[in-house]
Amino acid sequence: MPIRLLPETLVNQIAAGEVVERPASAVKELVENAIDAGAGRIDVSLTEGGQALISVTDDGCGMHPDDLELAVERHATSKLPGDDLLAINHLGFRGEALPSIGSVARLRLTSRPKGADSAWTLLVEGGRKGAVEPAAHPHGSRVEVRDLFFATPARLKFLKSPRAETGHVKDVIERLAMAHPRIGFTLAEGARSLLNLPACQGDDAEAWQERLAAILGRDFSRASIPVNAERDNITLTGRIGLPTFNKATSAEQYLFVNGRPVKDKLLTGAVRGAYADVLAHDRHAVVALFLDLPTSEVDVNVHPAKAEVRFRDAALVRGLIVGGLKHALAEAGHRASAPATGTGVLASWRPGGASWSPPPPPSRETLWSAAAAQAPLELAEAVAPFARVVLAEESPPADYPLGVARGQIHDTYVIAQTNDGLVIVDQHAAHERLVYEKMKAALGGAGVARQGLLIPEVVELDEGAAQRLLSRAEQLAELGLVIEAFGPATILVREVPALLGDADVKGLIQDMADEIAEWGEAMSLKERLGEICGTMACHGSVRAGRKLNAAEMNALLRQMEATPHSGQCNHGRPTYVELKLSDIERLFGRR
Ligand SMILES: Nc1ncnc2c1ncn2[C@@H]1O[C@H](COP(=O)(O)OP(=O)(O)OP(=O)(O)O)[C@@H](O)[C@H]1O
Ligand SMILES: [Mg+2]
Repeated sequence: MPIRLLPETLVNQIAAGEVVERPASAVKELVENAIDAGAGRIDVSLTEGGQALISVTDDGCGMHPDDLELAVERHATSKLPGDDLLAINHLGFRGEALPSIGSVARLRLTSRPKGADSAWTLLVEGGRKGAVEPAAHPHGSRVEVRDLFFATPARLKFLKSPRAETGHVKDVIERLAMAHPRIGFTLAEGARSLLNLPACQGDDAEAWQERLAAILGRDFSRASIPVNAERDNITLTGRIGLPTFNKATSAEQYLFVNGRPVKDKLLTGAVRGAYADVLAHDRHAVVALFLDLPTSEVDVNVHPAKAEVRFRDAALVRGLIVGGLKHALAEAGHRASAPATGTGVLASWRPGGASWSPPPPPSRETLWSAAAAQAPLELAEAVAPFARVVLAEESPPADYPLGVARGQIHDTYVIAQTNDGLVIVDQHAAHERLVYEKMKAALGGAGVARQGLLIPEVVELDEGAAQRLLSRAEQLAELGLVIEAFGPATILVREVPALLGDADVKGLIQDMADEIAEWGEAMSLKERLGEICGTMACHGSVRAGRKLNAAEMNALLRQMEATPHSGQCNHGRPTYVELKLSDIERLFGRR
């Protein structure tokens, strides 16, 4: 077959295949154009999830009639003044979006530039361009896309229900809106308003906080902490959720590079890495993070929908994110939060009695804030300094945020009185976290102190598992676990990490054998330290069901206060919850 040059409409349709995947991708292109045009307000409306009609109206700079003609030509852009693809200061730069959309739909541009006294309009249908004609329109532009994919019906089959497509559109607008709090955004589907984000006032930080709260909700504002990190001209700012505020998917991770929303693997991987210690594998943090760096440091021209970017120094960026997030999480200390459980939990604190009618529920912000506890490694060793508090009838000192232990219930939960309320600690979850943090610190520092078992523990395994463990005996010894062979399928455990106290040695060895089998031969234990610490902590922690005396309970509380990340266990569950006195008073109708 001879080689031929493809006709322009086909070229545009091929480009559209990459750029315009669904209504939401067309909306993204059009809203980005409106932002680039300096709009202060952008209104989007959809019919049938955008498949029948997408309309985007802005009050930006508008286009002259000549520019209308050019705007729908391929590779025509006003946004690249020089020829440097590493000096990109707009969301657009390829001059591809409008011709692509025009090749697969019926595209109408209507625009009136600032200062002009009339408007003009132009229609492109399936790549066929009409004539520019006079029209009536205020300053700014309106872009309408009708019958998306009518010219490429194969694409239609990939669209989901109008409801699902509308959801994608909403997500796209929310992401762009989060980076542009000064612009007002609305979204409507038919007569139904789906988003109304007024332009935010105040200084930049205030405006951004307000927009963030409007999109992610006040719960997130309360359950999140600020991030500020900087290295070599790269800055990272934003807010990240406390680990206890986790979600089943990563859909609520909002990441931006120089104000551009991205879904970049390097960045999501870095976020995952930063939370690895404090979240289960299948749970996801909620974050809104802005990475700003010189345009010469990042290539945005690597993905058709510009969703991914490439960094000149990827390791530096990853390091900044992991370090910045970990630092912020450590600063949060024992604080953790699970406001989502607040109303539900509180609602169950209802006394019986038919004549009693419950007071209105307290506002959400004053409800439970779950916190964390940690476990004392050696409860007894930490006891002495706190002995005084144990006996005290006096109120808890202000510098004990987790209060003074007043008792233990069901051999599992410690109840403490704080300055202005009460705290309930899950002793196992809390202790597990303490052990974990201490293990990690020990491994990172002087090494793990070992403690010989008075009577070595004999553990029966299957032969493969025993051999796998034995082949790593040397590495395990570095981690504080000394084992030797005792017959083909049995091992003898002589020493364990001192931190673990009277650990459940059998359970620990069996779990380690299972884990090592999963990792395969090549993986060194050092590469999986996090998991190993987690496994050890789990088997070395105070069990639920063990009675604690007052000194042990108070030692637990004090260690929690002093240990980073102690607000949640290794799986992201809270280690303690707190109820304020004012809420207790409300429960009893005293307020
Ligand atoms: N809403 C708008 N207001 C003013 N000018 C606009 C608007 N939309 C598009 N334009 C003009 O039309 C040109 C072409 O738009 P198009 O989206 O096709 O390309 P681009 O934004 O330059 O680059 P990209 O393909 O990367 O989006 C823009 O460069 C801009 O000058
Ligand atoms: Mg564009």
